[in-house]
Amino acid sequence: MSSNDNTISFPELIKLKRDGGQLSSEDIHTFVQGVISEGIQDSQIGAMLMAIWQKNMTDEETLALTREMMNSGHTFEWPKEWLVVDKHSTGGVGDKVSLPLAPALAACGCKVPMISGRGLAHTGGTLDKLESIPGFNVKQSVQQVKQIIKDVGCCIVGQTESLVPADRVLYATRDATSTVDCLPLITSSIISKKGAEGLSALVLDVKFGRAALYKDLDSARELAQSLVTAGNRLGVKTGAALTRMDAPIGQSVGNAVEVCEALECLKGRGPDDLTELVTILGGHLLWLCGNFTLESGKKEIALKLKNGEALKKFQAMLEAQGVSEDVARSLCSDETDYFKHMRRAAHQTELKVPDDGAVLDIDGLALAEVLHKLGAGRNKSGEEIDHSVGAEILVKMGQRVQKGESWIRIHHNIDLSTDQRSDLQKALVIGSLDKYKAVSRVAEFIHPNNPKMS
Ligand code: URA
Repeated sequence: MSSNDNTISFPELIKLKRDGGQLSSEDIHTFVQGVISEGIQDSQIGAMLMAIWQKNMTDEETLALTREMMNSGHTFEWPKEWLVVDKHSTGGVGDKVSLPLAPALAACGCKVPMISGRGLAHTGGTLDKLESIPGFNVKQSVQQVKQIIKDVGCCIVGQTESLVPADRVLYATRDATSTVDCLPLITSSIISKKGAEGLSALVLDVKFGRAALYKDLDSARELAQSLVTAGNRLGVKTGAALTRMDAPIGQSVGNAVEVCEALECLKGRGPDDLTELVTILGGHLLWLCGNFTLESGKKEIALKLKNGEALKKFQAMLEAQGVSEDVARSLCSDETDYFKHMRRAAHQTELKVPDDGAVLDIDGLALAEVLHKLGAGRNKSGEEIDHSVGAEILVKMGQRVQKGESWIRIHHNIDLSTDQRSDLQKALVIGSLDKYKAVSRVAEFIHPNNPKMS
């Protein structure tokens, strides 16, 4: 209820929004303070979220909500001369981009306090992937994050208790009240956490397609525009790339297997589409920071992947986050037997190409759903997952293949059912090569004020 005579009561605030009115910055302050002080009832939070879901929010309201959420907990402050940057992805299949990107940016002199998430449903999570490496600790205190950023330049950690506590309450209530799919609520949730990192620049990888949250380009663009507007108005130079998410990114899907592929990328031998995404998103950030054009920024990131400087940063980050010196050195050496250190699944089963032809499509969603059932993913937060479950895709898009050759190797610990084999086989589309057209994963950029990009 209202705390004094000048403050509008919670039922009045809910009614205002429910009836299509606009909440002022003070109203939103009152609401968020109620959320974190527990001065507002759960039912009132749910009712307000539903009113927002139904009546939407103006840019002004979204910005005020983002700012209040950001300031609901600890916010990082860094020396002014540092270029503090981060990337956020809306989630995909085979998306291990953060693993090479954070150290590549650190090798370019940026500071990257990357706060990542876990996988949910069919999408993978960066923290889960890193936890395939023995000893890697994603739980770091604010003080530890500051120290690693000072010493190494990058870290990849989970949400700390003290960062944006309002989001934890609001997100859980959104989940319980079917109000997750709401543009201003998604925008304030994502951007408040990035704002609390104290960033100079942020690039968003907003995915669209069969294996993405947003299936079509138009809805992904709408989200990207909302995120870019809120980020820039909060003082973080923010841009977005709209990227295709139909076939898996790279040649591996799972946790341990994706770490292997990320290490290959850091050794300059990554698959083309992964390396393209890392260089484009990294180049975009360097450009947003002001010292590079998009083209020269991309070249700089590519150089750090080729010359081993990004790999050195990754090794230092592993050690700073709890991996033993021996394991970190071995993973980042010329050796490629990564399973000496990470658990390998009990079985590796290869499936065969059914016809002669060319690879026209690989359905990332179908593949991820089978891996999820085999234990690679979770159905609700907090569930254990099996890091050793995954898939190596042995063919590339557009490649000519012959009936009977292996196209995928599944790493699993429980038997593959007949249905799962059939679902996996349906994920592979073989046809005539003239039907194949190579396309870049990046469809569009959204950036503030349309400045020159090259
Ligand atoms: N990721 C978040 O952090 N919040 C959302 O609301 C959606 C995706």
